[in-house]
Amino acid sequence: MSEIEVLRDAAVLIDGKRIGWVGPRQDAPTADHVVEVNGVIFPGFIDCHTHGVFGAPRLDDHERRALGVDYKAIAAAGGGILQSVRDVRSRSESDLEALTRARLRMLIAHGATTIEVKSGYGLELEAELKQLRVIRTLASELPVTLVPTFLGAHEVPPEYRGKRDAYVRLVAEEMIPAVAKETLARCCDVFCEPGVFSTGETRQILTAAARHGLAIKLHADELEGSGGAELAAELGALSADHLAAISDRGIQALAASPTVAVLLPATMIFLGKRGQAPARRLIDAGAAVALATDYNPGTSPTMSLPLVMALGVSQLGLRHAEAVTAVTINAAAALGLAQDRGQIVLGHVADLVVAAVDDWREVAYWMGREVVSAVWTAGSACPAL
Ligand code: NIG
Ligand code: FE
Repeated sequence: MSEIEVLRDAAVLIDGKRIGWVGPRQDAPTADHVVEVNGVIFPGFIDCHTHGVFGAPRLDDHERRALGVDYKAIAAAGGGILQSVRDVRSRSESDLEALTRARLRMLIAHGATTIEVKSGYGLELEAELKQLRVIRTLASELPVTLVPTFLGAHEVPPEYRGKRDAYVRLVAEEMIPAVAKETLARCCDVFCEPGVFSTGETRQILTAAARHGLAIKLHADELEGSGGAELAAELGALSADHLAAISDRGIQALAASPTVAVLLPATMIFLGKRGQAPARRLIDAGAAVALATDYNPGTSPTMSLPLVMALGVSQLGLRHAEAVTAVTINAAAALGLAQDRGQIVLGHVADLVVAAVDDWREVAYWMGREVVSAVWTAGSACPAL
């Protein structure tokens, strides 16, 4: 992860939507149109974990937490995810679309050119489909790639309290087939956490998802460990995400598998937690580590992958080069897209980000400064966002 190649006085040839050539400027083939860039060109950043479709920000939760009430206690008192669920259920699709459009534009302005977006604030078929349709509409409109993920198992909704088995069956036997039938999602995710969904329930849901052709992701071992990382590796998941409470066996399981460990340092910071996922131990064991924003109204209202990279260095002990790998090629792998995204090499999709800095390491250094000055996707410059 720390081996990245840095070229000085380089040129990149864009051929249609793809990279046609990259190398020293003096060797560059002639081109029809030349754009001079002052700064550093990175592969477009890939935000492989967001909950981008939601209604209002959760300011009351934030204030209660500042007074010392923790995330799970707030959720148990009716705040948390269920607050956003009531909100999303009551909004029209067009209202949600407008909110999401504005928010995704901010992620793009901070350099994200591929963005995974989860549902999970509906927790009933129609409201889940409404969120996924918003993602589909915006995928055809915004100049980036959106990867839709179905997260119907984000929490047990209030109407299923006391009959959680019935909700698990509803997700596995009705929601997943409906989502797959309309090809509204590429992946299926579950919040696998003590007090939310057990590993047994997670297995039941994700096995159904795989049968319907969806790729698998897990919110695993976020606040308390329960063997989520081991389960992710066993099921052949694309990624296991969060992992602040991962066990030694979980680390070994991920290291021995192609499942990517997606770490979300802004979440633990926003929740006021001291612990962070053991990024160094994961990397040293041989796991592939990616970073993402986890952009959501409850635990991580940040739109900036460069900020998350800076947190990766300061909170997780990543080297700057590892932080770059973590939001490019490894994040692409966490979405099953590494074959042609996440690197500036011949044949890859021409998704590029320009950072207005002198030294490439500055992208993971200026905490909160907007370093991204231009974004190119599929070979075209994105209009100012
Ligand atoms: O990734 N952990 C579960 N889901 C989100 C939080 C969602 C919310 O609080 O609205 C997360 O942290
Ligand atoms: Fe999340």
